[in-house]
Amino acid sequence: MHVCSSTFLCLHLALLKDQGARVTRYANGFTQPNSKSEFLNCIDINECVENQHFCGERGSCVNQLGSYLCKCPTGFSNYGNRQTQCAELNCDQYETQPGQTLPVLDSLLSLLKNSCLVLNSPTLSGPTRLLPTGDVLLTLLVNATDVVQLGLQSNGHRSSSEVTKLLRTIEISFRLIAPLLTENVTRIETNHTEVEIMVRRDKTPPKGPVSLTNENTQLDTTWETVVGDYQNYLGFAYVVLLSYRNLDNLKDNTSHQSQQLMSSAVTVSVSNSNTKKLPQQVNLTFHHLQSSDVDPTCVYWSDENGPGVWSGRGCTLVISNSTHTVCSCNHLSTFALLKGIQVKGSGQLSLVMWVGVIVAVTCVVLSLITTLWCRFVSRKRRGGHRLQQEVQLHRK
Ligand SMILES: *[C@@H]1O[C@H](CO)[C@@H](O)[C@H](O)[C@H]1NC(C)=O
Ligand SMILES: *[C@@H]1O[C@H](CO)[C@@H](O)[C@H](O)[C@H]1NC(C)=O
Ligand SMILES: *[C@@H]1O[C@H](CO)[C@@H](O)[C@H](O)[C@H]1NC(C)=O
Ligand SMILES: *[C@@H]1O[C@H](CO)[C@@H](O)[C@H](O)[C@H]1NC(C)=O
Ligand SMILES: *[C@@H]1O[C@H](CO)[C@@H](O)[C@H](O)[C@H]1NC(C)=O
Repeated sequence: MHVCSSTFLCLHLALLKDQGARVTRYANGFTQPNSKSEFLNCIDINECVENQHFCGERGSCVNQLGSYLCKCPTGFSNYGNRQTQCAELNCDQYETQPGQTLPVLDSLLSLLKNSCLVLNSPTLSGPTRLLPTGDVLLTLLVNATDVVQLGLQSNGHRSSSEVTKLLRTIEISFRLIAPLLTENVTRIETNHTEVEIMVRRDKTPPKGPVSLTNENTQLDTTWETVVGDYQNYLGFAYVVLLSYRNLDNLKDNTSHQSQQLMSSAVTVSVSNSNTKKLPQQVNLTFHHLQSSDVDPTCVYWSDENGPGVWSGRGCTLVISNSTHTVCSCNHLSTFALLKGIQVKGSGQLSLVMWVGVIVAVTCVVLSLITTLWCRFVSRKRRGGHRLQQEVQLHRK
């Protein structure tokens, strides 16, 4: 506990005294001493004793005059915000691996890895000017996304595995870039990509609805979904809506049939890392690229088995007209509207398929039984005739 007995220090740092009214106010981080005779003095609050969770489980709290800061061990970081919790930060995920990552994204990934290692080092104290800012990293990510989309476009045949690699890189990039952004809302738009990121840095987890909009899509969710488990709240929360203008017309690797998208594809990314099964549905309103009366299907990019495919699992269509469709999904990733209903992995569709198979098999079995029975009956009859004929022959 630090007692600042110097009147100058108190006036300078902490104390505001309204002359005449004898009202004493203390700046953040200071409190009044017990003895009233020392009213001009003030005492530093030891935030580290008051709240042991300020720095997270692994961070160590260091009290300072009127303030505090968190020191993080190696492998943990508070992204240069000295008063937030230390969170585990895995820099290996930014490793470029031949065949696993797209070469176009390699320079971005190595930049992210360097930033990650600097943020993770225990000697880092406060924001460092040597690192690229969140805005610079975001611009690079968006530019690289443009380049990949152009490459996929000129390829003619768009490979599913390339899309999967792009989407995975984007997902992990936001884990590092979003906490480094300084604005509450950041927007970047290029010829092929549009991104909006909302960041909150409240002391307690934010609550209530949150909505992000871009040219063709609107995302409606809640901060509860964005944050996830309140026990793991790290002192910040972010939600990203990224829209690709040129991921339509993606070719399915297996069938070589063009899968026509009726909307832009969008990636939704949040600070909550457990998004495979959300307790609350997220809603996406898609503006159709062309007004159309074809039935759309709500899909997401599934890369769990194989190179990647649009799948309808976990997504339902809420309402649709000729220009807009609202989809509701119970997990996060990259979403779009697909023309027609040829979707793999949709539970409802496989049910329809199985019913069809069962009906067909039943029909085949029934017709087999009928044929065999008819043959049996006709053979019996012919046999009877032959007997009669023989009898007649014997008589003659
Ligand atoms: C991103 O691309 C735009 C347009 O091609 C260019 O002006 C800008 O400098 C690029 N930004 C970075 C950080 O490379
Ligand atoms: C950012 O959001 C915080 C609350 O989360 C608010 O207090 C602050 O004024 C906002 N800043 C700007 C520039 O809107
Ligand atoms: C973006 O599109 C406009 C118009 O189609 C074009 O003139 C411009 O060169 C494009 N910019 C980039 C960076 O591709
Ligand atoms: C999403 O839509 C469903 C059904 O219309 C609704 O019950 C739910 O509250 C919506 N969720 C959000 C976050 O808006
Ligand atoms: C998908 O396409 C790529 C490029 O044409 C090919 O190398 C790969 O083997 C294909 N994968 C499948 C599962 O067909």
